[in-house]
Amino acid sequence: MKILKNINETVKFLRTEKMSGKSIGIVPTMGYLHEGHLSLIQTAKKNNDIVIVSVFVNPTQFGPGEDLDKYPRDLEQDCIKAESAGADILFCPSASEIYPDGYHTYVSVEKLGDNLCGNSRPGHFRGVATIVAKLFNISGADNAYFGQKDAQQFFILRRMAADLNMDIRLHICPIIREPDGLAMSSRNVYLTRDQRREAVILSEALAGAKALIEAGERNAAVVISEMNKIVNKSELAKVEYIKVVDTETLSDAEYIDKNLIALAVCFGSTRLIDNIIIEV
Ligand code: PAJ
Repeated sequence: MKILKNINETVKFLRTEKMSGKSIGIVPTMGYLHEGHLSLIQTAKKNNDIVIVSVFVNPTQFGPGEDLDKYPRDLEQDCIKAESAGADILFCPSASEIYPDGYHTYVSVEKLGDNLCGNSRPGHFRGVATIVAKLFNISGADNAYFGQKDAQQFFILRRMAADLNMDIRLHICPIIREPDGLAMSSRNVYLTRDQRREAVILSEALAGAKALIEAGERNAAVVISEMNKIVNKSELAKVEYIKVVDTETLSDAEYIDKNLIALAVCFGSTRLIDNIIIEV
C-alpha cells in the first residue's frame, strides 16, 4: 500500500492507473479506523481495481467547541488496518495541503442539511460536502463508499454529486455494530464504562420502533414516543433528537411509509447517532 500526503502525487498516480483502464474506488474517512470503516474498504476492493482510503480529520466540518483537537488519531494503526482490508493507497494530507492560504471555496447543499444533525451542527455538512467534493476531484474515482451510520451525510453527498454532475457512483453500506448492538464509531472511545453499557439504548430504541411498525403502527409520533421511552430508561442519556423523516427530502414525516428513523443521544459530552431505513 502506498502512503501519500501530497495532492499532485496522488492525482498523477491515480490518473495513470485510470488511463490504463483500471477502476478506482474511494473510501473517505477521518481515521481511527474500526470494523465499520474496514467493511467499506473491503466492499470497495471487491468492486474496483484500485482502492484509495483517505484519512483526514477535516477541520471545516467541526463547529466551535466541538472535538476537533481531541478527535482520536492513530495513523500507524490506520495504515496496518487499511492495508489488511485491501487498500492500495492511503491518502493522509495535512490541513494546509487541503486548505492552503487563500482557500475560499465551499460546497453547500441546501435544505437537506437543515434537519436532524444539521440543527445542532450548523456548517457541519458544508464542511463535509466541501472535503468530499475535493476528494472526488483528487481521486477521479468511479465509485465512492459511505456507511449508513451517517445516513444524512450520504443523502446530502448523493444530492451534491447529482446536482453538480459529478461522474461518480455513491454506494451506501450497512452499519457494523458491536455484539450488543452499539453502532461502531471512532467516538465510542470517549465513553466511560457506565456510559458504554447504557449506549446500547440507541439500537434498542430503533429495534422498538421497528417492532411497532412491523405490528402495524403507522403514526410517526407514536413511534417517536415509544423510542423516547426506551432511551429515557437510561439515566445517563440525553436525547438530542429522535425523528422519522422522508428519505428524499429529510423533512419530518407524519406517517410511516419509506423513512429514515434516526436519533442522536448525548452521554456527557459524547454524542452518538444511529438509524434505520424502513419501507412498509
Ligand atoms: P468517519 O466518521 O471516519 O466515517 C467514514 C465513513 O465510515 C463514513 O461513510 C461513515 O458512515 C462510515 N462508518 C462509520 N461508522 C460505521 C459503521 N459502524 N458501520 C459502517 N460504516 C461506518 O464520515 C466521516 O468520517 C467524514 O464526515 C467524511 C465523510 C470522511 C468527511 O470528512
